[in-house]
Amino acid sequence: MLSSALKSLFPHNLRFYPVPSFRTIATATKMSFPAKIQAIGINKTGDFDVVEKLEIPFPKHVPGNVLVKIQYGGVNFIDTYYRKGLYPIASFPQPLGTEGAGTIVGIPSDEAVLNNDEFKKRGYAIGGKAAVYGLGAFAEYVSVPWSRVFTFPEDVSDHHVANPITTAGLTSLTFVTEAYNVQKGDIVLIHTVAGGLGLLFTQLAKSRGATVIGTTSTKEKAELAKANGADHVILYRDEDTVQRVLEITNGEGVHAVFDGVGKDTFDNNFKLIRRKGTIVSVGNASGAVPPFPPLKLVEKNVRLLRPTVGNYIYTPEEGRRYSTELFSLISKGTLKILIHKEYPFTAEGVQQAQKDLTGGKTTGKLLIKISDE
Ligand SMILES: NC(=O)c1ccc[n+]([C@@H]2O[C@H](COP(=O)([O-])OP(=O)(O)OC[C@H]3O[C@@H](n4cnc5c(N)ncnc54)[C@H](OP(=O)(O)O)[C@@H]3O)[C@@H](O)[C@H]2O)c1
Repeated sequence: MLSSALKSLFPHNLRFYPVPSFRTIATATKMSFPAKIQAIGINKTGDFDVVEKLEIPFPKHVPGNVLVKIQYGGVNFIDTYYRKGLYPIASFPQPLGTEGAGTIVGIPSDEAVLNNDEFKKRGYAIGGKAAVYGLGAFAEYVSVPWSRVFTFPEDVSDHHVANPITTAGLTSLTFVTEAYNVQKGDIVLIHTVAGGLGLLFTQLAKSRGATVIGTTSTKEKAELAKANGADHVILYRDEDTVQRVLEITNGEGVHAVFDGVGKDTFDNNFKLIRRKGTIVSVGNASGAVPPFPPLKLVEKNVRLLRPTVGNYIYTPEEGRRYSTELFSLISKGTLKILIHKEYPFTAEGVQQAQKDLTGGKTTGKLLIKISDE
């Protein structure tokens, strides 16, 4: 069931869904491909066991879409929100996964698209490697609006085609740029510091000269976060997060909080943010943040945002600009992607990945291996 707050956010208009579905835009193709493909997804919302193997029609290549044969899918917390029904699904069956990477097997034929200046800058070619962003990536093939397909530069493709990094990569980059523009000298707090998104937030904030404080559950995760650049890591189960942050910041509080935990951490963020600081509510790992009175912002003139990456890469120009920067940071080694584990392309594989992720057992990126190439 959708909460009423989320229903009002995503009522009827697909364009404002957090992640657009690949399948809703598929129409006809002249290319020769199998009539049916395998996917892992759901026919109803619910617990882990609703995840099942699907046999769905080949996602036909619309004139403005790029067709991609998926090699790897990336697992993210958002997959669990769709599975549980926290985020809306337009129709069933619905393959899960919001990001994938693989090989381009079909390119647009629409003249208007081919003549679009932004399109020409993307450099799509049959056989080229690309990452895709959109709901339904855990499938053998996906048909994706061209603006949501990001080609890898030469020096990134060989090593990084295994990294469907659009969801976490573009989220971390756009959020540290637009939600709160992290600058040298800032002190930022990152909850979920050792997670898929958190490690990227940490590396990006450090590369900009910020001091990073993180929270996590175990010593092992704390060590990993430190190895990725975190300056201070608070073990929130053993230590008082507010007290430690105020100690570290000489009572001032942090300039910004990036909070992927949600319900459990939201209230304390107001105690450890500094005057005129920014709280970025990134996600809901512990549950959605309940409605709250805007007067809560008055005490310190706090800015509060609850953005989604889709709205930061909404235009083709935004998508190109941020994906180019992301791949450049990976290529230069500024951003290192830690792979937690590869899971098989089966219902059990995706269920296990979601269990591990929601059980807090993981660090870095979880992958679903969909095909060998
Ligand atoms: N807004 C957007 O566009 C956007 C895009 C991508 C991701 N996100 C959000 O970013 C957050 C991180 O996503 P991710 O995929 O990278 O996951 P992740 O951080 O790898 O995994 C979630 C982590 O949250 C922590 N956690 C704290 N309380 C928890 C609880 N009650 N249940 C489960 N985990 C809990 C755990 O780390 P510890 O053991 O360290 O506590 C866990 O490992 C999620 O909230 C996700 O929705 C938002």
